[in-house]
Amino acid sequence: MSAAISAPSTRRDRAWPFWPVVPLYPYGQRPTQRVEVVKDQVWAFDQFQGIFYVVVPIRMTVVRLEPEGLLVYSPVAPTAECIALVRELEDRHGPVKYIVMSTVTGIEHKVFVGPFARRFPQAQVYVTPNQWSFPLNLPLPWLGLPRDRTHILPADSAQAPFADQVDYAVLPPIDLGLGPFGETACFHRASRTLLVTDAIVAIPAEPPAIVQIDPFPLLFHARDSAADAIVDTPANRRKGWQRIALFAFYFRPSTLDVATTGEMFQEAKQAPVRSRQHYFGLYPFRWRPDWPQSFAALHNGGQLQVAPILKTLIFNRGPEEVLAWAKAVATWPFERIVPAHLEAPIVATPEQFLRAFDFLRADLALEHSKALPEADFELLQQIEGLLLSRGISRPRQTIALAEDGKKAEAKKPLP
Ligand SMILES: [Fe+2]
Repeated sequence: MSAAISAPSTRRDRAWPFWPVVPLYPYGQRPTQRVEVVKDQVWAFDQFQGIFYVVVPIRMTVVRLEPEGLLVYSPVAPTAECIALVRELEDRHGPVKYIVMSTVTGIEHKVFVGPFARRFPQAQVYVTPNQWSFPLNLPLPWLGLPRDRTHILPADSAQAPFADQVDYAVLPPIDLGLGPFGETACFHRASRTLLVTDAIVAIPAEPPAIVQIDPFPLLFHARDSAADAIVDTPANRRKGWQRIALFAFYFRPSTLDVATTGEMFQEAKQAPVRSRQHYFGLYPFRWRPDWPQSFAALHNGGQLQVAPILKTLIFNRGPEEVLAWAKAVATWPFERIVPAHLEAPIVATPEQFLRAFDFLRADLALEHSKALPEADFELLQQIEGLLLSRGISRPRQTIALAEDGKKAEAKKPLP
């Protein structure tokens, strides 16, 4: 994999004027880094986003087609810098021919497909079936997708115009009550690369390169109290990143206490800087000394995993569908995975990919639940309880599988 490349950029090149549509940090400024994942074949385009300085990488992936042309999976914000980096690839490998909207649920990915497609008027847009939008279920053209060149991905992947080079498997919609969850995994045959969106991640222990372009969020969260200054050291970047990962995955990690409003305002008076960027000196977070253990459990040696929120709230609503999809994906002979968030590429085999879904199997679920601290799941479980009590979500389910992978007993709800 080659080093990350940014285009020579000004603030104007990184400007994203439509940020209020999905108002996430870094708002109107979104830097892009292009990383060549497989020489002359696969490129990752990283940006980052978040709220309250909890910043995580978000990624689009571009693959080269034969004899020429590009397929773009899950576009990011088409800033001038991002487009310039794509144009460089077009100059070498031919035009963007296909753009894939890979999710029905992840608004942070869907929101850029329309604006990106407008910059490539010759490209055909393919969207994952069962699209919906919240709060209103709007037709696709209302989401900014070009009416005359937007298609639903065919149910049979052999019918897609790029079928000879890129295969795909659609995770059937999992009914969540509010609307279905679904995403499309793509397999680029020539490079043996699997592209996924939110279904699977690996969490790096070191801050990803893209979030180090602007290290302020990392350094903000590295502090132990409002009185601490922002100090840029590799150790502080790492510490801030690991805490951000705990926030991003659990929302309220068990090793975090929060100051009362009174304490917070009292302490803000001691803050060395009280600018708007520093939230006026307000810093409510009190990390307990054992927070690194909580991160170590989440990090899990950097292994492939299903994010806690998908495990707790989504995939266990349709375990049979998810496992069938994971098995279909695992029939492809991939050597690496490029997800739309966090670490990429992840060197992984189909067997390792499949193993990340073992938590859906009743015979392995208990073992899995021991791997992560129960306390860190508390808020997610409270959210689950709330959704169930309001009738917004369905109860969770698991399926038991025999050793040979065949279903051993019928689907049964957990108590
Ligand atoms: Fe996502």
